[in-house]
Amino acid sequence: MTEKKVVVYGATGYTGRLVIEYLREYNVPFIAAGRDEGRVQDALDHIPGIETADYEVVQVEHTVEALTELLRGAQVVLNTVGPFSELGPAVVEAALAAGAHYTDTTGEQDWLITCDEKYGADFAKAGLLLSPGLAQMYTTGEIAAQLCLEKPGLDTLDIAVFWGGSPTVASTRTILVNAATSSAYYLEQNAYTPFDPEAGLTSLVVPGQHELALSLPWGGTSHPVWFKNDPRVANVKAQGGVFNAALMHGVPQIVAAALEATKDMNQEDRDAALTATAAQVMNQMPPRENPRVNKSLDSVHASGPLGRAHCVIHGNSNYKQTGLLQAYAAYSLLQQAPKQVGFASGCQAFGHRELLGVLRSFGLVMEPVLTVQN
Ligand SMILES: NC(=O)c1ccc[n+]([C@@H]2O[C@H](COP(=O)([O-])OP(=O)(O)OC[C@H]3O[C@@H](n4cnc5c(N)ncnc54)[C@H](OP(=O)(O)O)[C@@H]3O)[C@@H](O)[C@H]2O)c1
Repeated sequence: MTEKKVVVYGATGYTGRLVIEYLREYNVPFIAAGRDEGRVQDALDHIPGIETADYEVVQVEHTVEALTELLRGAQVVLNTVGPFSELGPAVVEAALAAGAHYTDTTGEQDWLITCDEKYGADFAKAGLLLSPGLAQMYTTGEIAAQLCLEKPGLDTLDIAVFWGGSPTVASTRTILVNAATSSAYYLEQNAYTPFDPEAGLTSLVVPGQHELALSLPWGGTSHPVWFKNDPRVANVKAQGGVFNAALMHGVPQIVAAALEATKDMNQEDRDAALTATAAQVMNQMPPRENPRVNKSLDSVHASGPLGRAHCVIHGNSNYKQTGLLQAYAAYSLLQQAPKQVGFASGCQAFGHRELLGVLRSFGLVMEPVLTVQN
């Protein structure tokens, strides 16, 4: 049983540390939890200014029982331990058992669908928020979509998300495991519709550059899940990738090779092989983000029978955006109830204009460019 109301799980990770930096700036006391107490303490010792934060370090086993014990007395768990389709269920089940709100940093569409369909109703019944995917990918794009949807009568969202910089170890593993093992869906007339797995790279016109960008369905993204039950929206298609075209050319080849090499393996062996492949791509913690290198671009074209809107949000430091969104969620939940309980996106739970204001106030996104046509 803890007296601190906020638990950061995965505190040794690149994203967990950033969550902690922003919790310190919001003056929110927290528990930093991970599977190895020494590594958690070491990670925290490297966070500038940590001596002014109010925190405890706790080692916890990755089981529902141990995590439930950790979360008893807490009000919210901020989970950064991914891949979430594999490691998320234990934390969600523990949050529900302990009566804590749950947020995480996933960008995995299959995990969102599981949260919505398997756990959402139980969280709603308990008056708790279940908000997976409160992260740069794809909350910043969701803010852009919600700004477009302020104009009534738009039912179709065409979304692009791009970023620059290096992925972390877990992000690389997540991208590979997820791309290799699950389908990607878009939304057509409110029904999940699979992308053609053979379609390969698509060239996209993205705002702010003359060169065409290369995109993939990127696992389908969170958007189709968040908007599936939004009465304003019927169609959602999102595509994305990294600005680095050479890397984009490599991604389908790496995924196809990994799929071929692991197709006859059982799940355990396949996960181990995919993890090893991911480690060949990225096996070290990337450097601290630099706004001149680490960029984000979210662009949403919204359309309806008699109207159109386009919103573009240029930002920087994708992982910092994620850390800040998570810390703000905890800060907000300590003071007031979310706008929605049960399964809800960041914008549905906290408001898109509020989240935009948070990102703007820390210098992580530019003012959105919104064009509306009647
Ligand atoms: N959607 C987005 O925009 C976005 C942004 C940021 C991150 N993410 C996602 O968030 C996740 C974390 O990213 P990251 O950048 O923080 O990665 P990271 O630096 O590799 O950290 C991963 C964290 O998970 C922990 N972990 C891994 N396997 C575990 C296990 N079996 N049991 C307990 N803990 C385990 C690690 O602990 P140890 O130190 O003990 O290994 C570490 O704390 C990834 O899935 C990533 O894709 C998404």
